[in-house]
Parts: sequence; C-alpha cells; structure tokens
Amino acid sequence: MKIGIDEMRFVTTPFYLDMVDLANARGEDPNKYLIGIGQDKQAVVPPTQDIVTLGAEAASKLPSEKLKRVRTIILATESGIDNSKASAMYVKHLLKMDDNIRVVELKEACYSATAGLQFAKGLVALEPQNYVLVIAADIARYGLRTPGEVTQGAGAVAMLVSANPHVMTIEPGAVSYSRDLMDFWRPLYATEALVDGKYSTNVYVDFFKHTYGSYIQQTGLQLDDFSALIFHLPFTKMGKKALESLLGERDDAVAQHLREQLKAEQADSRMVGNLYTGSLYLGLMSLVQHGQLQSGDRIGLFSYGSGAEGEFYTGIMQPGFAKHVEKIDEWLKQRTRVDMQKYETMFNQHLGMNDQDVSFDLQHDSSRFLLAGQRNHQRQYVDRNDDKY
Ligand code: CAA
Repeated sequence: MKIGIDEMRFVTTPFYLDMVDLANARGEDPNKYLIGIGQDKQAVVPPTQDIVTLGAEAASKLPSEKLKRVRTIILATESGIDNSKASAMYVKHLLKMDDNIRVVELKEACYSATAGLQFAKGLVALEPQNYVLVIAADIARYGLRTPGEVTQGAGAVAMLVSANPHVMTIEPGAVSYSRDLMDFWRPLYATEALVDGKYSTNVYVDFFKHTYGSYIQQTGLQLDDFSALIFHLPFTKMGKKALESLLGERDDAVAQHLREQLKAEQADSRMVGNLYTGSLYLGLMSLVQHGQLQSGDRIGLFSYGSGAEGEFYTGIMQPGFAKHVEKIDEWLKQRTRVDMQKYETMFNQHLGMNDQDVSFDLQHDSSRFLLAGQRNHQRQYVDRNDDKY
C-alpha cells in the first residue's frame, strides 16, 4: 500500500525582522548573515503566539472534509508549553475536532516530525481509511546577542498522512542513526536553547554522511536517482554544507541540478528562519513551489535533531502534488516588518516561566488563534472566528 504525505500547510507569525537590521545592531557585516549564514529575514514572535496557536492555525488550513477523517494527532515540538499535557490536546480543542481522537506530543529536538511521519505511516497501514495529522510546530529562541540569534525563527507545518497520498509516498528503508551527544539542548529551567554551535554543525554533517552512505549501500541507488536532496535547515547555509560534503568537486549536470534544487528548498526558509521540527518540511514545500519536480521523481530527505539523531529517507512525488501543497510566497510578503526595539520588546514579553496571571494585548496580532494570557496557571486561548470572541 502506498502511504505518505497527502496535504501540507504552513503558518508563521505576522511579524519579521530584517537580517540587515539585526547585523547593524549587533555590529556584524550584513553579508555574514545574508551570505555566511544564509538568512534574509526571521519570524518575530509576539507574546500572543506559541506552538498551539501556530499549530492550530496551520492545521485549520487543511481541507475540512479530510480533517474529519483524522483519528490521531501527533504534534512534534521542542518548544513544549507544559511538561505533562500534550499541546495536541489544545490544538484539537481549538479546531473543534471529534473527541474520538488519539492525541500525543513527540520530542527529539528538530528530528521528531520525521518520527511522527514514520509512526503515522504505521498507523495508516493498520487503518487505511483514517488520516493522521502530523504537526511540526516550534519557536527557535537562542537569546538576544548570542551567536544563535541570527538563526532564530518560528512556525508550524501541518501535514496529513494517508493511504494513496497526493503529495509524496514515503518509501521503505529509511536509515536512522542516534547517539547521546550534547550539541544543543534546553534544560527544564531554561527558555532559551544552549548550544555548542560549531560542534553542532559538524555533528550534523557527520550524521548526514553516515545515514546517506548507509542508505546508498543498502539500496544500491546512486546520486542521479535523486531529483533533489533536501535537508533540515537550522539556517540555509547548513544545507549547503551538507550537500557540498557529498558533491565535493563534482560540477557535472547531476551536481548542478542538485545545487539548484537546494536553492529552491532554501528560498522560503531564508524568509522565516529556523522552525526546528518543521524546517525540513517547509523546505519540501519551498522545493515544490520553486524547484523543478515532476510526478514520479524521487527525493531524498535528511532530518536532523540535536542530541543527536539523524534520518535519511526517500519519497516519490505523486501526480498533481503541487495542488496539495500550500503556496506561501504571497502571504509571506504581507507580514509586518518590525524594528530592533519592537523585536526585543516582543522577545522579552514571552510568557516563558512566568507563573503569574497575565493578559496580553490582542489588538496587534491578526492571527486567527491567539494566546490571550494565563489564569490560575492555565493558558488561555481564543479563536477570532468564535462567536464568543
Ligand atoms: N561575508 C560572508 N560570509 C561571512 C562573513 C562576511 N562578511 N563573515 C563571516 N562569514 C561566514 C563565515 O566564514 C562562516 O562561514 P562557514 O560556516 O562556511 O565557514 C559563516 O559566515 C558563519 O560565521 P561564523 O562561523 O563566524 O559564525 P558564528 O561563530 O557567529 O556562529 C553558528 C555560527 C555556529 C551557526 C551560530 O549561528 C549558532 O550557534 N547557531 C545555532 C546552532 C545551529 O543552528 N546549529 C546547526 C546544527 S544543529 C541543528 O541543525 C539543530 C537545530 O536546528 C538547532
């Protein structure tokens, strides 16, 4: 049975920071951020947004008749809002979905959405009439004036997994690789990630080479069997480092094509920043929109989560795939640019570890789902489309 991704939708916050403004404020050459890191803009997160509002908003854009057939919601994140309760529970409530649904949250840094897709594939194999909703939602926060600041971002990708999918079937034979390493982590008492930046980039490339190499050995496939190789993009230059580790000096037609396809994957990520769990899947959406893909093409996907876990797997694009992947370029242009002062203010307004009652001003955030504040240690969410709002 063919199983894979049937629909894809994306959401980010309504605000962004231009990386030239950030570079100027931090005393860096703008080209370090634009070329050296490969980011143009990053999503700025108002206090009224978290993984629940982002995840619900992305999922709300999926076709309603398909959402009615969802029997499991998997929310993959490393930006959890509760140490016990799954954020998928809030999402299900905001979307007014059936109560006869299994909900769960998954964690292994930026990798867990890929685990979610593989688990979803297993569930669909058992019950092919049902859909699984996999949401990758995160807020990448490193802290003001840290080396990681330029690689921040936020957003959510919502994917439906089904039998006979419209976007991409997931082929068997994925190679996973995990080792206990400290390249990036966030202790329970911290709202910002701790990272050994250079080490993390080296581990990433090593894990890519290892998983890709094992996959090739196992399947006998060659580089020219892939129409594209796409990567988890903590910042877009990271994908280039990984691809070049494979291509080396090669400059033939295959290598040139893969480099062009990588640029297509990077296009939207340059405008949003790191999505942690969602980055690879925003990359797939961006490739569909900007790249050269045809039905029947095989693509290779490298998923990486610090700590650390890597997985290389492949998918086959399905007839009419582009119609089932949201086109996001136009609405990305409608976001509001904020200056450094506004960015830092929003950064510091984050609910974080605050245990007090809080009410946020909702006027400035045009999103459908909003975090209105916190009362009696409970997050308060609202839906602008609700009659009660
Ligand atoms: N013009 C053009 N390029 C320039 C430049 C200029 N004026 N100045 C510097 N550069 C280049 C540098 O040569 C360098 O390029 P290479 O990496 O190709 O050598 C690049 O810009 C970055 O410069 P630095 O190495 O000096 O940057 P830095 O020390 O400030 O840190 C970083 C970079 C380590 C990536 C840091 O941003 C960081 O810690 N980021 C967060 C961690 C991260 O994203 N790790 C990725 C792997 S882990 C993962 O994937 C999981 C996840 O999502 C976090």
